[in-house]
Amino acid sequence: MDLKQLFGYEGKNVVITGAGSGMGKAAAKLLVELGANVYATVRRKPLDFAVTKEIKCDLGSKEGIDMIIPELPEKVDALFICHGISNSLGKTNALEVQKTNFYSFKYLTELVLPRIADNGSVTFISSDGGKAWRDRLPQCLEVIATTSWDEALAWYEAHPEETGDGYVFAKQCQNAYVMSKCHSPEFIGRKIRLNAIAPGMTKTGLTDDFNKSITGNAEQGQAILEKYSLEFWNGRWASPEEMGHPMVAIGSDIFSYMSGQVIYIDYGTASLWEIGELTK
Ligand SMILES: NC(=O)c1ccc[n+]([C@@H]2O[C@H](COP(=O)([O-])OP(=O)(O)OC[C@H]3O[C@@H](n4cnc5c(N)ncnc54)[C@H](OP(=O)(O)O)[C@@H]3O)[C@@H](O)[C@H]2O)c1
Repeated sequence: MDLKQLFGYEGKNVVITGAGSGMGKAAAKLLVELGANVYATVRRKPLDFAVTKEIKCDLGSKEGIDMIIPELPEKVDALFICHGISNSLGKTNALEVQKTNFYSFKYLTELVLPRIADNGSVTFISSDGGKAWRDRLPQCLEVIATTSWDEALAWYEAHPEETGDGYVFAKQCQNAYVMSKCHSPEFIGRKIRLNAIAPGMTKTGLTDDFNKSITGNAEQGQAILEKYSLEFWNGRWASPEEMGHPMVAIGSDIFSYMSGQVIYIDYGTASLWEIGELTK
Protein backbone atom coordinates (compact mmCIF):
# COMPACT_ATOMS: atom_id res chain seq x y z
CA MET A 1 0.00 0.00 0.00
CA ASP A 2 1.22 3.50 -0.86
CA LEU A 3 1.19 5.32 2.49
CA LYS A 4 1.13 8.78 0.89
CA GLN A 5 -2.00 7.77 -1.00
CA LEU A 6 -3.56 6.56 2.22
CA PHE A 7 -3.23 10.05 3.71
CA GLY A 8 -4.41 11.64 0.45
CA TYR A 9 -2.50 14.92 0.79
CA GLU A 10 -0.42 14.65 -2.42
CA GLY A 11 -1.01 17.76 -4.54
CA LYS A 12 -3.67 19.04 -2.09
CA ASN A 13 -3.73 22.60 -0.73
CA VAL A 14 -3.35 22.74 3.02
CA VAL A 15 -3.41 25.86 5.20
CA ILE A 16 -1.81 25.65 8.64
CA THR A 17 -1.43 28.39 11.26
CA GLY A 18 1.16 28.53 14.04
CA ALA A 19 3.61 26.61 11.84
CA GLY A 20 6.71 28.33 13.21
CA SER A 21 7.05 26.20 16.33
CA GLY A 22 5.73 23.38 18.48
CA MET A 23 2.84 21.22 17.31
CA GLY A 24 2.05 23.33 14.24
CA LYS A 25 5.64 23.04 13.02
CA ALA A 26 5.68 19.26 13.55
CA ALA A 27 2.43 18.98 11.58
CA ALA A 28 3.53 21.31 8.77
CA LYS A 29 6.77 19.37 8.26
CA LEU A 30 4.87 16.09 7.98
CA LEU A 31 2.38 17.66 5.54
CA VAL A 32 5.30 18.70 3.32
CA GLU A 33 6.68 15.12 3.52
CA LEU A 34 3.26 13.79 2.51
CA GLY A 35 3.27 15.90 -0.66
CA ALA A 36 0.79 18.65 0.29
CA ASN A 37 1.05 22.22 -1.01
CA VAL A 38 1.52 23.84 2.38
CA TYR A 39 0.45 27.45 3.06
CA ALA A 40 1.89 28.13 6.50
CA THR A 41 1.46 31.13 8.76
CA VAL A 42 4.15 32.38 11.14
CA ARG A 43 4.12 35.32 13.54
CA ARG A 44 7.65 36.18 14.73
CA LYS A 45 10.29 33.76 13.43
CA PRO A 46 10.60 32.64 9.78
CA LEU A 47 10.29 28.92 9.05
CA ASP A 48 13.44 26.80 8.87
CA PHE A 49 11.93 24.40 6.28
CA ALA A 50 10.47 24.95 2.81
CA VAL A 51 6.71 25.26 2.17
CA THR A 52 4.65 26.36 -0.82
CA LYS A 53 3.96 29.75 0.77
CA GLU A 54 4.99 31.24 4.10
CA ILE A 55 2.68 33.99 5.35
CA LYS A 56 3.79 36.32 8.14
CA CYS A 57 0.85 37.58 10.16
CA ASP A 58 -0.69 38.26 13.54
CA LEU A 59 -3.92 36.30 13.91
CA GLY A 60 -4.94 37.99 17.16
CA SER A 61 -6.98 40.65 15.36
CA LYS A 62 -9.65 40.88 12.67
CA GLU A 63 -7.35 42.99 10.49
CA GLY A 64 -4.51 40.47 10.83
CA ILE A 65 -6.77 37.62 9.70
CA ASP A 66 -8.41 39.61 6.88
CA MET A 67 -4.93 40.34 5.51
CA ILE A 68 -4.01 36.69 4.98
CA ILE A 69 -7.12 35.74 3.01
CA PRO A 70 -5.80 37.02 -0.36
CA GLU A 71 -2.60 35.02 0.30
CA LEU A 72 -4.47 31.71 0.46
CA PRO A 73 -5.30 29.44 -2.49
CA GLU A 74 -8.75 29.57 -4.10
CA LYS A 75 -9.35 25.95 -3.09
CA VAL A 76 -8.31 24.65 0.32
CA ASP A 77 -8.48 20.91 1.03
CA ALA A 78 -7.54 21.00 4.70
CA LEU A 79 -7.28 23.76 7.27
CA PHE A 80 -5.32 23.27 10.50
CA ILE A 81 -5.56 26.00 13.13
CA CYS A 82 -2.69 25.55 15.55
CA HIS A 83 -1.68 28.97 16.85
CA GLY A 84 -2.17 29.92 20.47
CA ILE A 85 -0.85 31.77 23.49
CA SER A 86 -0.81 30.97 27.20
CA ASN A 87 -2.58 32.68 30.07
CA SER A 88 0.65 33.47 31.92
CA LEU A 89 -0.49 37.03 32.67
CA GLY A 90 -3.73 35.84 34.28
CA LYS A 91 -6.75 38.10 33.92
CA THR A 92 -4.72 41.01 32.56
CA ASN A 93 -4.56 39.53 29.08
CA ALA A 94 -7.75 37.45 29.15
CA LEU A 95 -9.25 39.27 26.17
CA GLU A 96 -6.07 38.83 24.13
CA VAL A 97 -6.11 35.10 24.93
CA GLN A 98 -9.78 34.85 24.06
CA LYS A 99 -9.33 36.56 20.70
CA THR A 100 -6.20 34.57 19.80
CA ASN A 101 -7.23 31.17 21.13
CA PHE A 102 -10.88 31.11 20.15
CA TYR A 103 -12.39 33.96 18.24
CA SER A 104 -9.67 33.89 15.58
CA PHE A 105 -10.36 30.15 15.11
CA LYS A 106 -14.05 30.80 14.44
CA TYR A 107 -13.43 33.89 12.32
CA LEU A 108 -10.71 32.31 10.17
CA THR A 109 -12.65 29.07 9.72
CA GLU A 110 -15.75 30.90 8.56
CA LEU A 111 -13.80 33.12 6.16
CA VAL A 112 -12.00 30.15 4.61
CA LEU A 113 -15.04 27.82 4.60
CA PRO A 114 -16.34 28.87 1.16
CA ARG A 115 -12.92 27.88 -0.27
CA ILE A 116 -12.79 24.51 1.45
CA ALA A 117 -13.30 21.69 -1.01
CA ASP A 118 -16.15 19.22 -0.61
CA ASN A 119 -14.85 16.33 1.53
CA GLY A 120 -12.27 18.68 3.02
CA SER A 121 -11.40 19.04 6.70
CA VAL A 122 -10.92 21.61 9.44
CA THR A 123 -8.92 20.64 12.51
CA PHE A 124 -8.20 22.76 15.59
CA ILE A 125 -5.69 22.41 18.39
CA SER A 126 -7.73 22.72 21.57
CA SER A 127 -6.49 21.49 24.97
CA ASP A 128 -7.09 19.17 27.88
CA GLY A 129 -7.80 22.47 29.65
CA GLY A 130 -11.16 22.73 27.80
CA LYS A 131 -12.41 19.41 29.18
CA ALA A 132 -15.24 20.96 31.22
CA TRP A 133 -16.87 22.56 28.14
CA ARG A 134 -20.21 20.93 28.94
CA ASP A 135 -20.49 23.02 32.13
CA ARG A 136 -20.08 26.24 30.11
CA LEU A 137 -22.05 25.27 27.00
CA PRO A 138 -24.67 28.08 27.18
CA GLN A 139 -21.96 30.76 27.45
CA CYS A 140 -19.87 29.11 24.72
CA LEU A 141 -22.89 28.98 22.41
CA GLU A 142 -23.53 32.69 22.98
CA VAL A 143 -20.02 33.53 21.74
CA ILE A 144 -20.33 31.05 18.88
CA ALA A 145 -23.62 32.70 17.84
CA THR A 146 -22.03 36.15 17.44
CA THR A 147 -21.89 37.11 13.79
CA SER A 148 -19.04 39.62 13.71
CA TRP A 149 -15.72 40.38 15.38
CA ASP A 150 -17.18 43.54 16.96
CA GLU A 151 -20.20 41.67 18.31
CA ALA A 152 -17.88 39.12 19.88
CA LEU A 153 -15.74 41.86 21.48
CA ALA A 154 -18.88 43.45 22.90
CA TRP A 155 -19.89 40.06 24.37
CA TYR A 156 -16.48 39.57 25.97
CA GLU A 157 -16.51 43.09 27.39
CA ALA A 158 -19.98 42.56 28.87
CA HIS A 159 -19.04 39.17 30.44
CA PRO A 160 -15.59 39.42 32.04
CA GLU A 161 -16.70 36.98 34.75
CA GLU A 162 -17.33 34.29 32.13
CA THR A 163 -13.96 34.48 30.41
CA GLY A 164 -11.80 34.13 33.56
CA ASP A 165 -8.15 34.16 32.53
CA GLY A 166 -9.17 33.52 28.92
CA TYR A 167 -7.40 30.23 28.26
CA VAL A 168 -9.82 27.64 29.63
CA PHE A 169 -12.91 29.39 28.29
CA ALA A 170 -11.29 29.76 24.83
CA LYS A 171 -10.60 26.02 24.71
CA GLN A 172 -14.12 25.25 25.96
CA CYS A 173 -15.49 27.44 23.16
CA GLN A 174 -13.36 25.57 20.62
CA ASN A 175 -14.73 22.24 21.83
CA ALA A 176 -18.31 23.52 21.82
CA TYR A 177 -17.76 24.92 18.31
CA VAL A 178 -16.58 21.54 17.00
CA MET A 179 -19.44 19.63 18.61
CA SER A 180 -22.18 22.11 17.71
CA LYS A 181 -21.10 23.13 14.20
CA CYS A 182 -20.10 19.80 12.66
CA HIS A 183 -23.70 19.12 11.66
CA SER A 184 -24.52 22.59 10.38
CA PRO A 185 -25.23 22.83 6.64
CA GLU A 186 -22.03 24.72 5.90
CA PHE A 187 -20.01 21.77 7.18
CA ILE A 188 -21.98 18.53 6.80
CA GLY A 189 -23.85 19.88 3.76
CA ARG A 190 -20.56 19.87 1.86
CA LYS A 191 -19.11 16.87 3.70
CA ILE A 192 -16.53 19.06 5.43
CA ARG A 193 -15.28 17.40 8.59
CA LEU A 194 -14.60 19.42 11.74
CA ASN A 195 -12.51 18.03 14.61
CA ALA A 196 -10.03 19.07 17.27
CA ILE A 197 -7.19 17.49 19.14
CA ALA A 198 -6.97 18.22 22.86
CA PRO A 199 -3.32 17.86 23.85
CA GLY A 200 -1.97 17.23 27.31
CA MET A 201 1.31 18.70 28.55
CA THR A 202 3.72 19.01 25.63
CA LYS A 203 7.23 20.52 25.40
CA THR A 204 6.83 23.46 22.99
CA GLY A 205 7.33 27.20 22.75
CA LEU A 206 4.52 27.63 25.30
CA THR A 207 5.94 25.35 27.99
CA ASP A 208 7.80 28.03 29.94
CA ASP A 209 4.74 30.29 29.90
CA PHE A 210 2.49 27.48 31.17
CA ASN A 211 5.03 26.62 33.89
CA LYS A 212 5.21 30.28 34.94
CA SER A 213 1.44 30.53 35.16
CA ILE A 214 1.42 28.16 38.17
CA THR A 215 3.54 30.07 40.69
CA GLY A 216 5.14 32.81 38.61
CA ASN A 217 8.41 30.85 38.47
CA ALA A 218 8.97 28.56 35.44
CA GLU A 219 11.27 26.06 37.21
CA GLN A 220 8.96 25.69 40.20
CA GLY A 221 5.95 25.31 37.89
CA GLN A 222 7.72 22.63 35.86
CA ALA A 223 8.59 20.69 39.03
CA ILE A 224 4.95 20.84 40.20
CA LEU A 225 3.62 19.66 36.84
CA GLU A 226 6.15 16.85 36.60
CA LYS A 227 5.37 15.65 40.13
CA TYR A 228 1.64 15.78 39.38
CA SER A 229 1.93 13.91 36.12
CA LEU A 230 4.34 11.28 37.39
CA GLU A 231 2.53 10.66 40.66
CA PHE A 232 -0.97 10.59 39.25
CA TRP A 233 -0.61 8.52 36.13
CA ASN A 234 3.03 7.80 35.40
CA GLY A 235 2.86 10.58 32.83
CA ARG A 236 5.51 12.48 30.94
CA TRP A 237 5.81 15.48 28.63
CA ALA A 238 4.80 14.78 25.05
CA SER A 239 6.88 15.88 22.07
CA PRO A 240 5.35 18.28 19.50
CA GLU A 241 5.36 15.41 16.98
CA GLU A 242 3.17 13.32 19.31
CA MET A 243 0.47 15.98 18.76
CA GLY A 244 1.19 17.28 15.26
CA HIS A 245 1.38 13.86 13.62
CA PRO A 246 -1.97 12.49 14.88
CA MET A 247 -3.56 15.83 13.96
CA VAL A 248 -2.32 15.42 10.37
CA ALA A 249 -3.86 11.95 10.33
CA ILE A 250 -7.19 13.31 11.61
CA GLY A 251 -7.33 15.91 8.82
CA SER A 252 -6.49 13.26 6.21
CA ASP A 253 -8.45 10.66 4.24
CA ILE A 254 -7.55 8.10 6.94
CA PHE A 255 -10.20 9.69 9.16
CA SER A 256 -12.70 10.33 6.35
CA TYR A 257 -15.68 9.23 8.49
CA MET A 258 -14.81 11.15 11.66
CA SER A 259 -16.32 14.55 12.40
CA GLY A 260 -17.42 16.52 15.47
CA GLN A 261 -14.81 14.94 17.72
CA VAL A 262 -12.48 16.41 20.29
CA ILE A 263 -9.73 13.81 20.60
CA TYR A 264 -7.74 13.87 23.82
CA ILE A 265 -4.09 13.10 23.15
CA ASP A 266 -2.90 13.18 26.72
CA TYR A 267 -1.68 9.75 27.82
CA GLY A 268 -4.99 9.16 29.60
CA THR A 269 -5.22 12.36 31.65
CA ALA A 270 -8.76 13.27 30.59
CA SER A 271 -9.97 9.72 31.25
CA LEU A 272 -8.42 9.85 34.68
CA TRP A 273 -10.30 13.09 35.40
CA GLU A 274 -13.53 11.70 33.98
CA ILE A 275 -13.44 8.45 35.95
CA GLY A 276 -12.55 10.49 39.05
CA GLU A 277 -15.65 12.67 38.49
CA LEU A 278 -17.96 9.75 37.78
CA THR A 279 -16.88 7.67 40.75
CA LYS A 280 -16.55 10.32 43.48
N1 LIG B 1 2.20 22.94 24.92
C1 LIG B 1 1.21 22.41 25.64
O1 LIG B 1 1.44 21.78 26.70
C2 LIG B 1 -0.21 22.54 25.16
C3 LIG B 1 -1.21 21.78 25.80
C4 LIG B 1 -2.51 21.88 25.33
C5 LIG B 1 -2.81 22.70 24.24
N2 LIG B 1 -1.82 23.43 23.65
C6 LIG B 1 -2.18 24.26 22.49
O2 LIG B 1 -1.40 23.88 21.39
C7 LIG B 1 -1.42 24.92 20.41
C8 LIG B 1 -0.02 25.03 19.81
O3 LIG B 1 0.87 25.57 20.77
P1 LIG B 1 2.28 24.93 21.10
O4 LIG B 1 2.16 24.29 22.42
O5 LIG B 1 2.78 24.15 19.93
O6 LIG B 1 3.14 26.25 21.36
P2 LIG B 1 4.10 27.11 20.42
O7 LIG B 1 5.31 26.33 20.08
O8 LIG B 1 4.30 28.40 21.13
O9 LIG B 1 3.23 27.34 19.12
C9 LIG B 1 2.21 28.30 19.07
C10 LIG B 1 2.35 29.06 17.79
O10 LIG B 1 1.29 30.03 17.68
C11 LIG B 1 1.82 31.20 17.12
N3 LIG B 1 1.01 32.36 17.52
C12 LIG B 1 0.72 32.76 18.77
N4 LIG B 1 -0.03 33.85 18.75
C13 LIG B 1 -0.22 34.16 17.45
C14 LIG B 1 -0.90 35.19 16.77
N5 LIG B 1 -1.54 36.18 17.43
N6 LIG B 1 -0.88 35.20 15.43
C15 LIG B 1 -0.23 34.24 14.75
N7 LIG B 1 0.44 33.23 15.31
C16 LIG B 1 0.45 33.21 16.66
C17 LIG B 1 3.22 31.30 17.69
O11 LIG B 1 4.01 32.11 16.85
P3 LIG B 1 5.24 32.96 17.47
O12 LIG B 1 6.00 32.02 18.37
O13 LIG B 1 6.02 33.37 16.27
O14 LIG B 1 4.64 34.08 18.23
C18 LIG B 1 3.67 29.84 17.69
O15 LIG B 1 4.31 29.49 16.49
C19 LIG B 1 -1.92 26.17 21.15
O16 LIG B 1 -3.23 26.44 20.72
C20 LIG B 1 -1.92 25.73 22.62
O17 LIG B 1 -2.93 26.37 23.35
C21 LIG B 1 -0.52 23.37 24.08
